Amino acid sequence: VTLSELDTPALLIDLDIMERNLGRVADYARAHNLRLRPHTKTHKIPALARRQRSLGAAGITVAKVGEAEVMLAAEPDDLLVAYPVLGPRKLARLMAVAGRTQVTVALDSLIAAQQLSAAAHGAGLTIGVLVEFDAGLDRMGVRPGEELVALAREVAQLPGLTLAGLSFYPGHIKHLDEDGLRRLDALAALLAAVEADFARAGIPIRIVSGGSTPTLFQSHRLPLLNEIRPGTYIFNDRNTVAAGACTPADCAVSILVTVVSNARGASVMIDGGSKTFSSDRSAVAGDVTCGHIVEAPDARFVKMNEEHGFVDVRDSSRHFAVGDRVRVIPNHVCVAMNLHEQVYGMRGGEVEQVWRVEARGKLQ
Ligand SMILES: Cc1ncc(COP(=O)(O)O)c(C=O)c1O
Repeated sequence: VTLSELDTPALLIDLDIMERNLGRVADYARAHNLRLRPHTKTHKIPALARRQRSLGAAGITVAKVGEAEVMLAAEPDDLLVAYPVLGPRKLARLMAVAGRTQVTVALDSLIAAQQLSAAAHGAGLTIGVLVEFDAGLDRMGVRPGEELVALAREVAQLPGLTLAGLSFYPGHIKHLDEDGLRRLDALAALLAAVEADFARAGIPIRIVSGGSTPTLFQSHRLPLLNEIRPGTYIFNDRNTVAAGACTPADCAVSILVTVVSNARGASVMIDGGSKTFSSDRSAVAGDVTCGHIVEAPDARFVKMNEEHGFVDVRDSSRHFAVGDRVRVIPNHVCVAMNLHEQVYGMRGGEVEQVWRVEARGKLQ
């Protein structure tokens, strides 16, 4: 099957770019002695998790128990659920997963730890715990300092659990500009303080897991950090480009769409809107476009309805005829992947792989 035979909208993965992205990060992690535990919420495909493992990933990361169930197919040695798991139904499912591979959970409350402990103890299993601290995103995580040390100490005493280490997510560093570099320096200082706190408390910390795609290649500058969990890096997207963490040539995913109307003149309609791309705007303030049109960078994808993409063509030198097909690099690839039933791995204009996005919609 060739590109021209695919119907639209279709999510395309340039396999050469993807392989290069995977290899580059695997090499970086190896060179700096960092464990790589890729977040699979970006691709949601067990075959790609397998590929990450074969390149040396020490384990994989998921956000949801449903994703963990799907990712068992990749036979990971170690599966991190980077999200607290609460309630008997989810915990029962998690224990079934833990019966098949080593499971670690990141959490930030004693309640979550106690529930996990009871479930693990009841099932005769041992679950690893990463105690989560807030590194500045103000989303999850206890405050570093006494609160963090106290929670780690309590986790270490609970039956069925083993304190595997600490985790954080530096999602507040979106752009490595002057402000981003200042935030990175502040994070380095924070990590040094956390290290001192645990040394003083005499609590050994094996894993310190952090690392996002935008901060990826700065990871070796952060003390204490010995595991990275990037997800987006496998494909990259416009946000990664805006972050200064890659170039447009490193974006492996584009969405093939068809021009369905040019009746309005100033803007043409493409057959992909928020149900194809997601509504995520660019993470960089001031940039309000919904995606980058590869064949016409001077056309602006300015607005979406559910099934209509509005492309302002007033400044574009390209003529858009009804039936034309163009590719669009999405702003945020993880949410775009979640919207597609199947995706196409492309090489040299040919479809080499068709993958079902097996963990799409696994919200529970
Ligand atoms: C907890 C956690 N870890 C890792 C990641 C991966 O980061 P990125 O998407 O920048 O690769 C995310 C992304 O949202 C996350 O929420």
